[in-house]
Amino acid sequence: MSQNSGGNPYGHFDDENREYVVTRPDTPLPWLNYLGQDEFFGLCTNTAGGYTFWKDAKLRRLTRYRYNNVPYDLGGRYLYVNDGGSVWNPGWKPVKAKTDGYECRHGLGYSVISSVKDGLSVSQTMFVPPGENLELWKVTVKNSSSKPKEVKIYSYQEFCFYEALNDMTNYQRTWSIGEVEVEGGAIYHKTEYRERRNHYTLFGCTGPVTGFDTSRDAFVGIHEGLHEAKVPFAGKASNSKAFGWNPIGSHEVTLHLKPGEELTYAYVLAYVDHDLVGFQGEKFTAPFVINKAVGIDVMKKYSSVAAVDAAFERLRSYWNTNLGNFQVSSPDPHANRMANTWNQYQCMATFNMSRSASMYETGIGRGMGFRDSNQDLLGFVHMIPGRARERILDIAATQLSDGTCYHQYQPLTKKGNADVGGDFYDDHLWLVLSVCSYIKESGDTGILEAPCGYADKAYGAGLEKETLLHHLETSIAYTMAKRGPHGLPLIGHADWNDCLNLNCHSTEPNESFQTAGDVKDSKAESVMIAGLFLYAARELSDLYTFLGSKNDSQRIDTQRRTMLDILETVAWDGEWYTRAYDAEGKVIGSKSNDEGKIFIESQGWAVLGGAGADNGRARKAMESVHKHLYTKNGVVLQQPPYSTYNKAYGEVTSYPPGVKENAGIFSHNNTWIHLGWCLLGEGDRALEYYHSICPSTKESQIDTYRSEPYVYAQMTAGKDAPCFGEAKNSWLTGTAAWTFVVVSQGIFGIQPDFGGLRIDPCIPKAWPGFEVTRKFRGATYHIEVKNPNGVSKGVKTLSVDGKPIRGNVLPVMGKGEHRVEVILG
Ligand code: BGC
Ligand code: NOJ
Repeated sequence: MSQNSGGNPYGHFDDENREYVVTRPDTPLPWLNYLGQDEFFGLCTNTAGGYTFWKDAKLRRLTRYRYNNVPYDLGGRYLYVNDGGSVWNPGWKPVKAKTDGYECRHGLGYSVISSVKDGLSVSQTMFVPPGENLELWKVTVKNSSSKPKEVKIYSYQEFCFYEALNDMTNYQRTWSIGEVEVEGGAIYHKTEYRERRNHYTLFGCTGPVTGFDTSRDAFVGIHEGLHEAKVPFAGKASNSKAFGWNPIGSHEVTLHLKPGEELTYAYVLAYVDHDLVGFQGEKFTAPFVINKAVGIDVMKKYSSVAAVDAAFERLRSYWNTNLGNFQVSSPDPHANRMANTWNQYQCMATFNMSRSASMYETGIGRGMGFRDSNQDLLGFVHMIPGRARERILDIAATQLSDGTCYHQYQPLTKKGNADVGGDFYDDHLWLVLSVCSYIKESGDTGILEAPCGYADKAYGAGLEKETLLHHLETSIAYTMAKRGPHGLPLIGHADWNDCLNLNCHSTEPNESFQTAGDVKDSKAESVMIAGLFLYAARELSDLYTFLGSKNDSQRIDTQRRTMLDILETVAWDGEWYTRAYDAEGKVIGSKSNDEGKIFIESQGWAVLGGAGADNGRARKAMESVHKHLYTKNGVVLQQPPYSTYNKAYGEVTSYPPGVKENAGIFSHNNTWIHLGWCLLGEGDRALEYYHSICPSTKESQIDTYRSEPYVYAQMTAGKDAPCFGEAKNSWLTGTAAWTFVVVSQGIFGIQPDFGGLRIDPCIPKAWPGFEVTRKFRGATYHIEVKNPNGVSKGVKTLSVDGKPIRGNVLPVMGKGEHRVEVILG
């Protein structure tokens, strides 16, 4: 175990290199990394499992992966090594031969998997160069034995027929359409190229190729598994040409290595789309022969190891630049490593993937979520504001002109998914949060005037106003208009809690809980949406103030105050805020309920929305969270859990007690409580709560926790579950963005605002201080915070470049480096 070990027998953080080092392949669950940052992506586990897609995991899947396979995580970027008849894989799977050493380094946008056996080491570095639609694997093979070796290496990837659902369901067609071509070291997967596609997949090898296979049946066998694939065990490629069935890409590379000799070569997997690159040449160069000009250029470009290394360096500097926008040095090693590296990295993944493709999301079911993507943006916007801008306009265009939104949309087409539809009545409000956070980061108020139509009324179709600002107004107006008997916002299919389905009343197991028929004249209302509305309205009102539109600011603020009065009047239960009213107008999340007496979301959003600030209720509600919901593994979603299915409440009551929305620890909503503690100035609580869900603290209990210790998981089993403390659904969760908000803005208190950078930390009293480097609107601020009086909150003095300034907002200073000194007290 290394010095960085947190008591985890499977691996450790390498903070300096920004890598997580897995030292045993048989991790408690497959531990995943993502390759790719722009449009070309790969999933890559610590045993090289996973797949690759371009832009859309459903519609442009390039390599195949079988979800829920046995064993877990089979299929990937495999290399089979045949060293004098001994066959093994550097990533352990699929052969699972015992090696003399194994290591997987998951880094930022790359993974390096290496093993050594019998004096032969093989190392495979996999990554996607920034801005390119291809993936590279650099392979280094070294003979450290005292004898010469002849080594054969067989690559293996199964091609996917692009449309992933069809690929895994429609064999009567797909097993007859597969086509490939082989030329030199390059295998071209060209299925459907002859018809409506103008793209193909290239799998090339720059090493000494001595054979190939493109038929899975020939390479693996009909009755064999990947662990006993015929060709690598025979040590001879069969040069098979796939016609139909399942095309694969496999190169046989033969290496003769003297003692001590090391050789390096590469593989490239590229998505070649003629339309995308503007290729004007003929589609075919001869009957059935595809025009490979673009593919040949790709092969040429990466024919030298130096070119591969240079691409890798570009990736390294891409991440150095991104992360350089926020770096902290504090007394807490967990907060440091998460905020400096892994949390920001995860925010890139959630920004790119939304909830589409992970070990728990098949890339088929969901595209980009409306509420999800708006929230994901909050943790991403400081890295690449330009991409956040583009995303905001895409998301907004899936809002309908009445204010409701498509709940999800497909990244390739940017069209709303009709099967899920809309009517989740929180969705539109998140847009206000993402837009304001983008403007606060970038200062680009111009985005408000960006032309932006609605999904049902495209831009130019005659709406009076078609700007982004109009979308924000529409969102606020919708919630004000759609309210129930208590004056609270109607809930629709669900609010943030997708499983609180108060209008769907499903009794039929073959339908979705969320979209099953709506109850007629339903009265179901959401306290959480009311809280979220308070927050969104305050954001918009502040934005108007900043823009100098006093009347608009007041108009929105009046609506906010109306909602606040209502919430305080109808949603206070004595010690906490209630959660909702059901379709019949009966309360949920109250002492008067037998189960589900107290919920987390309404405490978080009421407090963040400013409720209870003047009357002590905010503190009371938070103390109730502490008393009834807090555990050492995080805050459970509600208590007590539901023990039986109740169709009036829906999916929330479908889960066994202690998991998911039924009293599981749903990390995402924990963050709102963390921010609540920060608002109340409780820095010790904030850090304690943050630690309770921080994956880096879980290394010492990893056999219980099981998920990756370097990224947040959506859910940890709650105290009512037999597996209390077991995490699930890692990577794609709103927790990523929100914990970055908690740590960077709540605890370290570096808060972008419309007019500048606000500094308002909330830290444990015992901290002597901390330092942050923050790039903001072109300037770099080196911020030193000192805490001589042992307080949690409150800026006593603030100076920039030695000059004291009033208040706690750093002005926008343009380019240059600035020293900021902050004294708390
Ligand atoms: C899950 C929710 C999720 C929803 C999406 C439910 O089964 O429990 O967390 O948001 O599905 O459709
Ligand atoms: C996961 C979904 O992606 C998100 O939209 C939802 O808010 C949470 N589950 C809670 O149900």
